[in-house]
Amino acid sequence: MATLRTNPEPPMSTKRLEGKVAIITGGASGIGEATARLFVAHGALVLIADIQDKLGAELAQELAPNASFHHCDITQEQDVEALVDAAVRQHGRLDIMYNNAGVVGSINTSILDVNIEEMDKLYAVNVRGTLLGTKHAARVMIPVRNGVILATASIAGVMGGTGPLLYSISKCATAGIIKSVSAELGQHGIRVNCISPSGVPTPLAVSLFQEQFPGITIPQVEDYMRNMSALKGVLLVAEDVARAALFLASDDASFISGHNLIVDGGFTASKAIPS
Ligand SMILES: NC(=O)c1ccc[n+]([C@@H]2O[C@H](COP(=O)([O-])OP(=O)(O)OC[C@H]3O[C@@H](n4cnc5c(N)ncnc54)[C@H](O)[C@@H]3O)[C@@H](O)[C@H]2O)c1
Repeated sequence: MATLRTNPEPPMSTKRLEGKVAIITGGASGIGEATARLFVAHGALVLIADIQDKLGAELAQELAPNASFHHCDITQEQDVEALVDAAVRQHGRLDIMYNNAGVVGSINTSILDVNIEEMDKLYAVNVRGTLLGTKHAARVMIPVRNGVILATASIAGVMGGTGPLLYSISKCATAGIIKSVSAELGQHGIRVNCISPSGVPTPLAVSLFQEQFPGITIPQVEDYMRNMSALKGVLLVAEDVARAALFLASDDASFISGHNLIVDGGFTASKAIPS
C-alpha cells in the first residue's frame, strides 16, 4: 500500500538555513554576493569562493563570523577540492554547494564568427567549473546522504537568441550537468537544481551591455532589462535570484530535484503582442 507523505510542522525559526554550511562560488559579486548575504541572514555559515580576493575578503569580513573567504579558481580541480575540504575541516560538513561563478565572454552571436579558444575559456568556467563543484560536493555529501547542489544557468540556455552564442551554449551545458547528475545523486538523498535568471544588472551583465552599446549608462541598462520582463516595469535584481536559491536550498524545496527554476518575470514563457 502506498504511504502518504505527511505535512511536517512548519519550522519554528524564520531562519530557513539555520546552522547549514554553504559554499557559494562567484560569491564576491552580483548574484553570489546577494546570496551570501541572504544565506547568512537565514542562519547559514557561508564560504565565499571567488578569484576576486579583495572583494571576497571584504564581504566575508562584513558578514563575519558567519562567513569566510576562500580564493578558488573553479577551473582548477585542486582549488575546488581544497575549497570543499575547507568546509568540512572548518564546519564538519557541507550542506549546500552553490555553483554560481560564471563568465560571459564576447557579445558575438554568429556561428560564423565562433572562436573555438573562446569556447574553451567559457566552458572552463561555466561547464567544467560547475562540474568540478558538483563532483567534489558529491564526494563529501554522498557518505552522509545529505546535501543540496545548485548552479546558476541562464535563460540564454533555455531560449535561443537571448544571449551571446557561446555563452548560451555553455549555459545549456550548465543546466545539462544538473539534470544529468540528479538521477544518481537522488539515490543518495542529494537534491540538485539550477536557476536560470534573465538579465540582472551585475558587473557581468553591465560589461556585456557596455561592449555592445559603448557609452550606455547603468540606469539605461536597467531600463533595457526592465522592458524585457513580461512583468513590465519590474527589474530583476540579484536579491530576487538569491531568494530563488534560498528556496531551493531550504527544506521548503524538499521534494524538488533535477529542476531548472526560471527566474525571468515570464520572459521565456510569453511573447506578448504589443498593445
Ligand atoms: N547578470 C545576469 O544578467 C545573469 C543572467 C543569467 C545568469 N547569470 C549567471 O549568474 C552567475 C553570476 O553572475 P553575476 O551576474 O552575478 O556576475 P558577477 O560578475 O557579478 O559575478 C560573477 C562572479 O564569478 C567570479 N568568477 C569568474 N570566474 C571565476 C573562476 N574561474 N573561479 C571563481 N570565481 C570566478 C567573478 O570573479 C565574479 O565575482 C554567472 O554564472 C552568470 O552566468 C547572470
